[in-house]
This record gives sequence, C-alpha cells and structure tokens, in this order.
Amino acid sequence: MSAETPTFDCVKIEREGPVTFVVLNRPEKRNAMSPQLHLDMCDALDWAQMDEQTRVVVVTGAGGNFCAGQDLKLYFRGTEDDPKARVRARAAAHEWRWNKLSMFPKPTIAMVHGYCFGGGFTPVIACDFAIAADDATFGLSEVNWGIIPGGLVAWAVTQVMNYRDAIYYSVTGEQFSGAEAAAMKFVNKSYPLANLRAETLKLANSLAEKSPAAVRYTKEALRSVRNMSKDQALDYLNCKSDALKHVDPEKGREKAMKQFLDEKSFKPGLGNFSRS
Ligand code: COA
Repeated sequence: MSAETPTFDCVKIEREGPVTFVVLNRPEKRNAMSPQLHLDMCDALDWAQMDEQTRVVVVTGAGGNFCAGQDLKLYFRGTEDDPKARVRARAAAHEWRWNKLSMFPKPTIAMVHGYCFGGGFTPVIACDFAIAADDATFGLSEVNWGIIPGGLVAWAVTQVMNYRDAIYYSVTGEQFSGAEAAAMKFVNKSYPLANLRAETLKLANSLAEKSPAAVRYTKEALRSVRNMSKDQALDYLNCKSDALKHVDPEKGREKAMKQFLDEKSFKPGLGNFSRS
C-alpha cells in the first residue's frame, strides 16, 4: 500500500494501479451500514476524488458480501433516542450513497458479490456501472420487516428498474440473483464469482485509459439531460461540448483530430487516441 493511502474504521482502501477499491469493511456484520461507516464513506470518497493516482473507483464490500443494508442495531435502534445522531447519520448516509457517488467526477463501478439488501441498493444505482457475481443475492427486504424502502431507495430503484420489476421486488421482498439482475439490466453484467474481480478490473482499466475530461463530461451530460426537455438538452449539450474544449487540460479533441485526419494513426470508431 502506498504511504498516502488513508485508513478508516469501517472502510478499507485497496489500490490496483489507477483503480481504487473503496471497500465497505464490516464483514462480520455483512457490511451493514452503521453511522460510522457512512461517515467513513464520505471521507473515503472525498479522498479518492482528490487522489491523483485514482482514475476509477470501485465500490464493493469485504468478506464476500456487498452490503446487508442499514445496520438495524446501530443506525436505527442506536439513534432512536438521539435525534442529533440520527440527523447526522441520515445526512452522511444520503451524502455518500447518492450525492457523492452520482456526482463523482471519475468513473465509478459497484462490484456486487454475496448479499446486497435494502439501503445497499442506493450506491449500486448511484455508481455509473454495476457488475455482479452471477450468484449474488439482491433483495429489497424492507417490506419483510415492516418498513418501506426509505432513504432514497424507492426513488432510486425506479431510475434503473423497469417499473413492474421495481414494484414487484419492493412489495414482495423476493430476492433476485446477480444473473437475474443482469438480465433485467439492474446491473450491466454478471460473471461467475471467480472472475468478478478480474472482469471488473478489465472494465475499470479500460475506463482509466480514456480521456478523463471526456469521460467526466460524458457522464455528467447523460445524467443531466435525463430530466430536461429536448430543447433544453440541445442547448445544454452545445454549451457542455464547448466547455469541454476549453477545460480539457490534455486537449484530447485536437490531438484525436490530428491523429485521425492528418497522421492517420488511429480510428476513433475502434479505440482510443494516444493521450501522450
Ligand atoms: N443490521 C444489523 N446487523 C446485521 C445486519 C443488518 N442489516 N445484517 C446482518 N447483521 C448482523 C447479524 O445480526 C449478525 O450479527 P451477530 O453476529 O452479532 O449475531 C451478523 O451480522 C451476521 O449476520 P447473520 O444473519 O448471522 O449472517 P447470515 O450470513 O446468516 O445472513 C443476511 C446474512 C444478510 C441474510 C441476514 O443477516 C439478514 O437478513 N440481514 C438483514 C438484511 C436486511 O434486511 N437489510 C435491510 C435493512 S434496511
């Protein structure tokens, strides 16, 4: 581990070159999210955002599971008589699982293995990509213990799931596998567990090779236009395209045009331009 890699009580950082794994780390509790885990995730994502070596973030869980949802003991019961702690935990829970991840300036991948329940759905949905083990177990289990998929879960599932699936799995609490999640496009792809990390790294490394500015502006553009009218989107995308030309420190567009049109050294349809 590099000297600058931070440590946290409930989150672990693992580096693989430009790819940083931000790992929920309460394996003995199936990575159920305690208030401290939420605070640590806020700090870990802030660190990863500023860390120059980190080009892609993978969010995953330690000990063979992604996340067993909110910690019923520490997050719910533990803050019942402490309104200040409840407010702080709720704010941190929302901040990293939605605000930070969905606005993250670098590509993010949720790598899901083992269990993923309840509040664990939100970061999976907020990440740009989600890759699961075929035998991962997803479940919107809230209904099983008498609550609704709160926080932002009910809203988030309707962003990525077909409405029928969202209702079905929220109201029945029935589990679905990683392979089923891939079939319904809740995650991008699923793989046998033995290949999950290698396949996730393959995707992460391919993202790390692309122009960081183009990747960031592309994901920001897609996220923003979803809630715009056609005319607003057209105007916004024109402005965003112009802005990219000016903010890209690598001047990727100019380099790529030169390499394709003048030097004939690459084909944009088939791969990346040379960033060096
Ligand atoms: N909150 C608090 N503690 C949790 C937890 C959660 N969401 N999920 C697991 N744990 C704890 C268990 O209480 C147990 O603690 P203990 O060792 O002190 O008894 C430990 O983690 C291991 O859990 P266990 O149930 O023994 O493991 P398992 O592998 O047999 O089952 C689950 C794992 C995830 C299927 C099961 O723990 C479970 O159903 N958890 C709740 C999932 C859920 O509904 N989450 C949504 C919350 S909104």
